[in-house]
Amino acid sequence: MQLLDGTAVSGQIKLELKNELNEWKVQGGKVPHLAAILVGNNPASEAYVGNKVKTCAELGFESTLLRFDTSISELELLAEVEKLNLDTRIDGILVQLPLPAHISEDAVINAINPDKDVDGFHPISQGRMILGQPGFLPATPYGILLMLAHYQIDITGKHCVVVGRSNIVGKPMSILLSRNANPGNATVTICHSKTTDLKAFTLQADVLIAAIGRARFITESMVKAGAIVLDVGINRVEDASKKSGFRLVGDVDFENVAPKCSFITPVPKGVGLMTICGLMRNTLNAAKLKKMN
Ligand code: GUN
Repeated sequence: MQLLDGTAVSGQIKLELKNELNEWKVQGGKVPHLAAILVGNNPASEAYVGNKVKTCAELGFESTLLRFDTSISELELLAEVEKLNLDTRIDGILVQLPLPAHISEDAVINAINPDKDVDGFHPISQGRMILGQPGFLPATPYGILLMLAHYQIDITGKHCVVVGRSNIVGKPMSILLSRNANPGNATVTICHSKTTDLKAFTLQADVLIAAIGRARFITESMVKAGAIVLDVGINRVEDASKKSGFRLVGDVDFENVAPKCSFITPVPKGVGLMTICGLMRNTLNAAKLKKMN
């Protein structure tokens, strides 16, 4: 079993991005500037956004964090997004999800200028991805592709089983794994909460992508010997031995599944770090592709 090491891979990708930024600056290019919107104080969202802002600083990108109380109305939030759309200093916009129930996530995502959609969630970004046109790929699936590429894991002709059908991971992941590209050309099955006999599918997986958001849901008996397992889950479970009172576990029962695998990502220090790489790659691209106005 080999660990797919998010720390090592993201470290290398961040170094490449830093070097690319330096070259871009020598050519007179503008430093990328990411704007992040955080509504409320969901602890997990706070942590994700904090890491994104921190990584911007590490790479020499600029960032602006806009925080709003959960009482902000949908109209007010849409107006904030529009301000960022019109602000020529801003190259990338991300709105951390989930949003409070009274705000339509679709409406907010649809309001982002697709040229600044570095999360790749806008329908235009997702449409471009499906059609194989250049555009911003959703950060987590993109990060997984970067990880597969780093380890030169060839998934051509392999059976990839994606468990989870969210708009931000499962759905785009299934498209990207099956497209005629490298990494790609896999045969893909997408499973979800209503799948009958899930285990019958996961046991067929050469590559298993767990993105269901349920702690240690994928157990040893659901995984084929020699499988490649990519764990997208980041779940908090109580742990009295920790100062915080919790620890993070994936959607995969790592301890028991890992010995069966050829490759597996840990949680933490796996796919989560790659998501940030995907976002940073998109943000640098956004600055480079910026329309001059
Ligand atoms: N919520 C969970 N994952 C993500 C992500 O990758 N981007 C944003 N904006 N929100 C999220």
